[in-house]
Amino acid sequence: MKKIIGIWLVIGGLLFAQTFQVGSHGVVVSASKLASDVGVEIMQKGGNAVDAAIAVGFALAVVYPPAGNIGGGGFMVVRTPDGDVTTFDFREKAPRKAHRDMYLDKNGKPIENLSLRGALASGVPGSVAGYACAHEKFSTLDWRDLLMPAVELARAGYPVSYFIHTGLKYRQDRMSECDATRNMFYPNGRVPEIGEILVLTDLANTLERIANKGWREFYQSKTAKEIARSIQAAGGIISEWDLKHYEAVEREPVHFTYRGYDIFSMAPPSSGGVCLGQILKTVEHFPLSQYGFQSALAMQIVTEAERRAYANRAHFLGDPDFYDVPVDYLISEALAAELAAAIDLEKATPSQAVSHSLYPESKETTHFSVLDKEGWAVSVTTTLNGSYGSGFVAGKTGILMNNEMDDFSIKPGYPNMFGLIGAAANAIQPKKRMLSSMTPTIVTKSDSLMWILGTPGGGTIITSVAQVLMNLIDFDMTLVQAVDAPRFHHQWLPDVVSVEKYGFSPDVIRMLEQKGYCFEYQTAIGDVNAIAVDWENDRFIGVPDRRRQSAASAW
Ligand code: GLY
Repeated sequence: MKKIIGIWLVIGGLLFAQTFQVGSHGVVVSASKLASDVGVEIMQKGGNAVDAAIAVGFALAVVYPPAGNIGGGGFMVVRTPDGDVTTFDFREKAPRKAHRDMYLDKNGKPIENLSLRGALASGVPGSVAGYACAHEKFSTLDWRDLLMPAVELARAGYPVSYFIHTGLKYRQDRMSECDATRNMFYPNGRVPEIGEILVLTDLANTLERIANKGWREFYQSKTAKEIARSIQAAGGIISEWDLKHYEAVEREPVHFTYRGYDIFSMAPPSSGGVCLGQILKTVEHFPLSQYGFQSALAMQIVTEAERRAYANRAHFLGDPDFYDVPVDYLISEALAAELAAAIDLEKATPSQAVSHSLYPESKETTHFSVLDKEGWAVSVTTTLNGSYGSGFVAGKTGILMNNEMDDFSIKPGYPNMFGLIGAAANAIQPKKRMLSSMTPTIVTKSDSLMWILGTPGGGTIITSVAQVLMNLIDFDMTLVQAVDAPRFHHQWLPDVVSVEKYGFSPDVIRMLEQKGYCFEYQTAIGDVNAIAVDWENDRFIGVPDRRRQSAASAW
């Protein structure tokens, strides 16, 4: 069943997704044409790319409910026209009453779905605080101006896309468990048809309150009270105290070089930048371009680099406010050389021979990239975790809540349903941020902006971003080619290479199988929304991935 839905989502993506767009004033690439248009309109009104990104983020909470949100969290990487790069961490946090064993039964076994569904699955949301932090530091327009397009979209409604229709159909049982969710997304108890107008009045009212009263309304006023009340009434633990004390954090980016390019990405609590750095620094030891795009040897090297990076991810990475993450070591030349030297070109390294382990992650998230003519570049990945998050709408707020608590290791040292072992660095602790794979990234060369990119895809986020960068840098592809190219993924455990179906030569797969690699086929991996700068012609090219329903708008 899952597979059939996956295939239809891809066909739907191909039918409705837009092609690349070219502009010289500004460009936005997001999971929704409506949201991308909002971003361009904000820039036309005099806003910069940060203003546009904030407005896109709020618009996606309305028009892309599987992952766009104000009930979740994410990360933003910003490059200023002067070339300074900073990041905003608005990852969700565990509530004050959370504890390490909260998802285990009396025998110490994880209780099925408890960290995934309903009121107990949510971390304290960070998106509104994150956008406020970026607004305070970099914006030129008023806060209210950035929320009003989302208010209007929610109040007037918008036509349901094929992608949203299919997703709501797939999730109907789970989402109908909560009355507020059912009333919001299933008018008259049925899945809205493609093209039917979906009106989200409660969400419009909440967004308008936040627009008029400021971002703290979400955390300290009527909205906060209703979130806490409805969650606790349904057995959850997020309190008014948790909301009042939530803070987004500005952090240094992870920065490393790859074959002469400077890559800036997200630092912990996302594992994205660190693992991206480790994969690329490891493959830098091999002449991938000589081996050839998707040659057996190139695929082998990348797979082995991914395997080792994910093993280290599981062991070393967690919230840096709670756990001393050795970022410099993990992206160091020395470690990459050691990892590269350990790759045996004759055969696969069994994952059991590489220590440490991992926990599973959901693949639903969303990424948007924004650029303006002044040179402001913004890369944002945001999520509810699973598709439509926990499926719990918080009372009358219209806010769909995340199920991000599942991104913690819910039982350190205990094998999960896939036989994998979670890590102590990412164990649940009150007020801690759960580990993420989100990898919003900005690339420059000789101080000139080259690309802005990122993707959803849970654990596959990092490998998708890494492979698009290898396609651009090693294989000299255009951005359209690099995003379109078939992807593959290895995450240490399970010891299997996931490949996009129809994307790889059977001869290459056979050669790798003979070396000991196992393969599984997936319909699609990731949804990379990216921007390239065409310096020769002074233009920007916005490239949406065609795997879902993403779209670019340019001006
Ligand atoms: N929830 C997916 C991630 O944060 O990586």
